[in-house]
Amino acid sequence: MIQTIAAAKKEKTSLPFFGIPRVVPYARKYSRTLATMVICGLIGTGMDIALPLFQRYALNHFIAGGTTDTLPLFIVIYVLAIVAAGCATFIACKGAMTTEVSMNRDLRNAAFNHLQTLSFSYFNQNSVGYIHSRVMSDTSRIGGLVSWTLMDCVWHTSYLIGAVAVMLVINVRLALMVTAILPLMVIFFSLFQRKLILANRQIRELNSRITGDFNEAITGAKTIKTLTIEDRMAKDFVADTQEYRNTSVRAARLRGGFSVTMHMASSLALAIVLWQGGLIAASEVGTFSMFMSYAQGMMEPVRWIVDAISDIITTQVNIERLTRLLGTPSDVSDTPEVIEKYGDSFNPRRENWEPIRGDIAFEDVSFRYPDGDEYVLEHFSLEIPFGSNIAIVGETGAGKSTLVNLVCRFFEPTSGRVLIDGRDARERSQLWLHSAIGYVLQLPHLFSGTIRENLLYGNPNATDEEIARALELVSADEVVARMEKGIDTDVGEGGDLLSTGEKQLISFARAILADPRILVLDEATASVDTLTEQKIQSAIDTVIRGRTSIVIAHRLSTVRNADLILVVNDGKIVEQGTHRDLLAAKGPYYRLFTRQYEDEATKGILK
Ligand SMILES: Nc1ncnc2c1ncn2[C@@H]1O[C@H](COP(=O)(O)OP(=O)(O)O)[C@@H](O)[C@H]1O
Ligand SMILES: [Mg+2]
Repeated sequence: MIQTIAAAKKEKTSLPFFGIPRVVPYARKYSRTLATMVICGLIGTGMDIALPLFQRYALNHFIAGGTTDTLPLFIVIYVLAIVAAGCATFIACKGAMTTEVSMNRDLRNAAFNHLQTLSFSYFNQNSVGYIHSRVMSDTSRIGGLVSWTLMDCVWHTSYLIGAVAVMLVINVRLALMVTAILPLMVIFFSLFQRKLILANRQIRELNSRITGDFNEAITGAKTIKTLTIEDRMAKDFVADTQEYRNTSVRAARLRGGFSVTMHMASSLALAIVLWQGGLIAASEVGTFSMFMSYAQGMMEPVRWIVDAISDIITTQVNIERLTRLLGTPSDVSDTPEVIEKYGDSFNPRRENWEPIRGDIAFEDVSFRYPDGDEYVLEHFSLEIPFGSNIAIVGETGAGKSTLVNLVCRFFEPTSGRVLIDGRDARERSQLWLHSAIGYVLQLPHLFSGTIRENLLYGNPNATDEEIARALELVSADEVVARMEKGIDTDVGEGGDLLSTGEKQLISFARAILADPRILVLDEATASVDTLTEQKIQSAIDTVIRGRTSIVIAHRLSTVRNADLILVVNDGKIVEQGTHRDLLAAKGPYYRLFTRQYEDEATKGILK
């Protein structure tokens, strides 16, 4: 959260005043629609400007003049003009709507695809909620700017210019008097507006605070009860809602003031016309009515322009943020030469991919996380020949997951090299490597959908038989059988309808279905019961045959059969060997093992 606020501040300070040029590349595709929109908008405004002129003609000729000779023609032209203006307005609105949703789609697709190319470290430094709300609101603000704001801008400015021009042509003196109040209005509106914007911003902030309060009260309900801080939470909440209420009332008052001012401004303009109506000859009653129409019609565009300017300025933040996201380079990216040969994530060139064998080597690797200042690994070297089964054990925070992050190239070494099949991993594409790795995480993620759909992510072509075999192999078949709809059970968002243990089993089955050359299990059995773990253990023994596997184990009893056990502490291998060797050595592994053994024995007694 602290990072989020800091990031938001940074965004504000580096804000250039006009980021509109950066939207141009995305809007260019719609230049024809936009041009049509502008032209039709102008036709529509033309009609708005012409209406008072029609009135003027009708009043002057048919009423004051008392002749009806041109009436049929007048009616025909009038109807035609109205129909034309209606069509033009329709086309302009349709254009704006289409552009808005199309731009939203384009920007969201671009952001989504770009997010997928970004490395792990980006998501480390930016919270999911923050990225999510940014992308959604930024894209819709920008879409709105390019469509409706642009159209309204054309509409209102051309109306103002047109109306003033017509008035000037017809009666310079009266025109100048009526337009003289415009600058006054601009100043008034701006003053109100600044206050309104401030109040609105406050309301938004309070609103998200209230939402946050609710969130906390719900997700932290148990903790709140155990700490017995209900009254304090309630007091905070009441204070927030009270402030929200007060600010909303203030905003409502301002809005009220705003519309009263607008009415008064209209009336003032009208009053000027009435007062100075004498400037117009009696036979020109139509001109009088025309001036009245314009005087009233001008206020809305002025208000809109004042509104739009501040709107456009605030949208700069959205533009800045989104284009920055789209321009963020990934910490881990393939070089152009690599992409040339192996393709990228969206257009892989599988025909050029060498088959992967599964040799892994760390060569003098030092590593620190992009946002961390301490080295997690220093001058680390290790060879994992193809087909071997490595187990990594060590205390929490020892650097076990970091090691596999590097193998998977989710991060790249700060110095040194990670070799896959004898070549620097960076010489081939990320997709090439990732498509050969099966990774089961400690906190597994399932996608919303059914269990079957999730398994098919591992291998879209898997047959029902293969799926059943994979489930059986990891002992997930019983779990699935217990579910109401079996394999077609919905797992909910992120798999949240299942327990962590169940998720682990499913994601293990998913990894196996992909038939990877390299299998990584990062504390993959931490959340299943001992019985299931034993079953999985025998599954591991079966599935690792013919693959390189790295198993990070929570319970040491599960790593006995590994070809090599590495004991990691503080990013260094402090001991390595087979289970038997290490126990005999009575070193760190022995200590870890006996401690865990005792712990479990104690737990067993307590049960
Ligand atoms: N994404 C990250 N960004 C910054 N530091 C990290 C990150 N992940 C882990 N670390 C740090 O690196 C060290 C090793 O962590 P990790 O490899 O996850 O340990 P283990 O898996 O053995 O529990 C820890 O000190 C941890 O705080
Ligand atoms: Mg870990």
